[in-house]
Amino acid sequence: MTKPYKSLHGLPPLAGICTMKEAMKPGLSVEDCVGRLKRFHYAFKRLHEIFIARLTAEPVYELKMAFSLHAHLCAEHATALRKRVAEMREPPLGLDEIPHPGLEILFDEIRAAPATGELLLGVYSNIVPALRAGVEGHLRDTNPLADHPSVRLCRFALLEVEEMEKFGAKAIAKAVSAADHQAADEWLKLLDDCLASAGGLDGIDDTVVQSPSRRYSAQPFKYDPVPKRDTRFPDPYNMAVNAEVFLYDPAFPPAPKTLMMFYKRLREIDVPEMMASILAQTPGKPWAYYRDMTRQLWDEARHAMMGEVGFASLDVDWAKNVMVNFTWSLALNTQLTPIERHAVLYFIEQGLMPRTGKRFEWETALASGSPLSALFQDYDWADEVIHAKIGRDWYLKEFSEAKKAVEYGDQCWSKVLMNWEAWRAEGKTQHRNWWPDLYRAACKTWKVQPDPQVLAYATSYESVRADLKNLSASA
Ligand SMILES: [Fe+2]
Ligand SMILES: [Fe+2]
Ligand SMILES: [Fe+2]
Repeated sequence: MTKPYKSLHGLPPLAGICTMKEAMKPGLSVEDCVGRLKRFHYAFKRLHEIFIARLTAEPVYELKMAFSLHAHLCAEHATALRKRVAEMREPPLGLDEIPHPGLEILFDEIRAAPATGELLLGVYSNIVPALRAGVEGHLRDTNPLADHPSVRLCRFALLEVEEMEKFGAKAIAKAVSAADHQAADEWLKLLDDCLASAGGLDGIDDTVVQSPSRRYSAQPFKYDPVPKRDTRFPDPYNMAVNAEVFLYDPAFPPAPKTLMMFYKRLREIDVPEMMASILAQTPGKPWAYYRDMTRQLWDEARHAMMGEVGFASLDVDWAKNVMVNFTWSLALNTQLTPIERHAVLYFIEQGLMPRTGKRFEWETALASGSPLSALFQDYDWADEVIHAKIGRDWYLKEFSEAKKAVEYGDQCWSKVLMNWEAWRAEGKTQHRNWWPDLYRAACKTWKVQPDPQVLAYATSYESVRADLKNLSASA
């Protein structure tokens, strides 16, 4: 272009997406574009897999929550990339192929990282920055007009990859000591070599090194389904406070019921722990299954954080006053097969929809005069409606009739053993009734005198053991 190009009335040309000059750059061919997008897709897919594989056994609550979010973000971007690749005259799509053996070793190594420190370093100081640089490179190199659908998708991905990177940098600064960082140096170098052998994440650099030999991933990966918690969960077998019996007793006023609902929400931390085990141990499903189930997993993590925010809003120290247990995820993950776990989840979530379920919780929150509790229950309910649909889409379809699917869920749930008394006998918990402490702490903030009847509440999950269906149920 030698002469300046003029649009009519000086209006922005090209729908405002770029300048005339930018639209004239040679950019990437369809083949090169697809080659890069497939590598980004592989990275998102494997990152998703790593977050899912590690979140149940990761003790630190904040990291568990972040892994839930980041798994969801990666699943969403992988989904968008799959769709874009499919648009680019490519059948067979080859989306399940490994783009380069060096990349396979890279992700396998990080999935197998022996401790949280190395896991964080591998994910957030190695892969995520490489992915960010790769996506930035695509935006820099491609023709913004010809490849606009990819540009749009890359811009959106970049936004969230940058958020992941920022979170990771802060988490590493706080949770990984200088000594641990140094001890991981050699392994981090191995990860760099993996990337270099693959020509970078996007494959555009010259490959000068061979793919290194495996270290942590030399043995086949073994998934750990046993949930772990940090020090703010000091009594994880405690089943002393039956939230449901209190919540559905009309004799109790709505305000203290918001505490039980915050507790129920925070306890939902066990749903991501359980759902991650289903995802990690159910290979071979269509990609949409992993995407949908991970969306639900993230919702459940959000619900847990809503409970956390609820307690924080009341200046209640939940680590001290609320004994959040992990008995549900522990029992399901260690006693049931993945499809049986899904059956239990479906069965419980079915039961949340009738009159006594989510609507009741929302109405109770409204009646309590706590706008925050009402807001959280409103969204909790809306999310559970999506979850019921995800259950219909992915669990129900395994059965010829809906009735059989529900019955199977009931059966699976009934065979789960909750060893209330055995846990006490083994000294795992005293099932201490922590409710009076929680209620007193909230009353202090509310500046009210504790109601003696509410304060005296002491129904545990032991007395309703006769019917397992009434047991503490998450979801
Ligand atoms: Fe929920
Ligand atoms: Fe839930
Ligand atoms: Fe749910």
